[in-house]
Amino acid sequence: MHRLRLGVNIDHVATVREARGGKFPDPVRAAKIAAGAGADGITAHLREDRRHISDDDIDRLSREIDLPLNLEMAPTDEMLEIALRHRPHAACIVPEKREERTTEGGIDAAGQHNRLAPVVRVLGGANIRVSLFIEADRAQLDAAKLLGAPVVELHTGAYCDSTGTDRENHLRAIRDAASYGASIGLEIHAGHGLGYDTVGPIAAIPEIRELNIGHFLVGEAIFVGLEASIREMRRLMDEARNAAR
Ligand code: PXP
Repeated sequence: MHRLRLGVNIDHVATVREARGGKFPDPVRAAKIAAGAGADGITAHLREDRRHISDDDIDRLSREIDLPLNLEMAPTDEMLEIALRHRPHAACIVPEKREERTTEGGIDAAGQHNRLAPVVRVLGGANIRVSLFIEADRAQLDAAKLLGAPVVELHTGAYCDSTGTDRENHLRAIRDAASYGASIGLEIHAGHGLGYDTVGPIAAIPEIRELNIGHFLVGEAIFVGLEASIREMRRLMDEARNAAR
């Protein structure tokens, strides 16, 4: 089984900064701590309304961090131009609505083929590894493959937010999507809403190569510090992965 990578999303360090404006707390400092705590990559979402991460953060993350940067971005001309300027290691295409509190669902890779095709092609042509953030659904996986994206990130939000049988059903759909996606040649990532109590069953899915986790880690850091919250997440991921071998 492949090693499971952890991408730490530092958006919500910037959310706390933006609550007051100014420079504190600094998401770049958080990214450096994440690197020391076992993160394999740094993930940041530059939203159209700049509610947390700023253009300057992306600039500094690109220059000051040695880990691969995964830029989450809406498929707009503005974001495409920014991605081409900074050339992050990876770009994850997400849907974006101004009024939403967080990314509420996956992108409709099937319904938006014509809008996404040039974005995937241009990013890929610039050597940026493109991933599409999609729901755990075979039609979406087929559509991602048709678009030529090498990677998909499966949305784990509904799994995390549900309980009981509902959660079991979401988990089954994610397992099925991971296995089907890998069988058609896609690299499988997953993320959104994951915490200590939900990460294990996702980390145990053998086809998943990377998890992107942010809000929980930054929240838990208030109590235990960022380094400790990331180390504990890494430990739980490894434990679940090893138990599944
Ligand atoms: N993956 C994607 C594509 C996301 O949009 C987000 C949220 O920005 C995450 C992962 C991380 O989600 P969370 O902050 O809930 O851990």
